[in-house]
Amino acid sequence: MSVILRKMTSEDLEEVISIDQVSFSLPWPPRSFQYELTDNPASRCWVAELDGHVMGMLVGWLIVDEIHIATIATHPDFRGRGIGKKLLSFALEAAMDEGAISTFLEVRESNTAALEMYRKFGYVEDGRREGYYKDNAEAAILMSAPLTRASLNR
Ligand SMILES: CC(C)(COP(=O)(O)OP(=O)(O)OC[C@H]1O[C@@H](n2cnc3c(N)ncnc32)[C@H](O)[C@@H]1OP(=O)(O)O)[C@@H](O)C(=O)NCCC(=O)NCCS
Repeated sequence: MSVILRKMTSEDLEEVISIDQVSFSLPWPPRSFQYELTDNPASRCWVAELDGHVMGMLVGWLIVDEIHIATIATHPDFRGRGIGKKLLSFALEAAMDEGAISTFLEVRESNTAALEMYRKFGYVEDGRREGYYKDNAEAAILMSAPLTRASLNR
């Protein structure tokens, strides 16, 4: 499986939005992706492309020396094939190239797959927000990790 990792472009938005909508119970408003792509200077938007189609997407916010993973998703038909790890590794490495020394994210406490993936990258739980998600009042687990080249070799 030959996956290409690259910057998101406006042409990708339709597929990116469709992955977002099938992946999350609270998807982003579609216009948010256009905003992240063109109007948010902190945004770093990446996609994983397979056979000419977007199969994974990640939006990060680089704030000073920290990269906040704002969203990441793989198309449901292509999960469990390493795309999430490739995307996260690529985005973290790119952020390190820009001076990031740490990374941060929030994840639903029931999201076992994502939690497992993040732990592989060295993320540890360092906080919790009760009732954070509006649809089911689920808690958010706050995770962070120092960034080193070694932490990208999961
Ligand atoms: C989380 C997500 C992005 C992972 O993407 P993916 O392409 O399936 O990930 P990978 O195949 O690279 O797997 C990465 C790791 O995640 C973990 N993982 C993936 N699927 C899993 C599952 N069903 N159960 C437990 N762990 C799982 C494993 O640790 C895996 O590493 P391994 O292959 O060495 O075992 C994907 O499940 C997804 O899009 N989920 C819906 C959106 C979402 O919840 N995003 C995260 C928001 S915080």
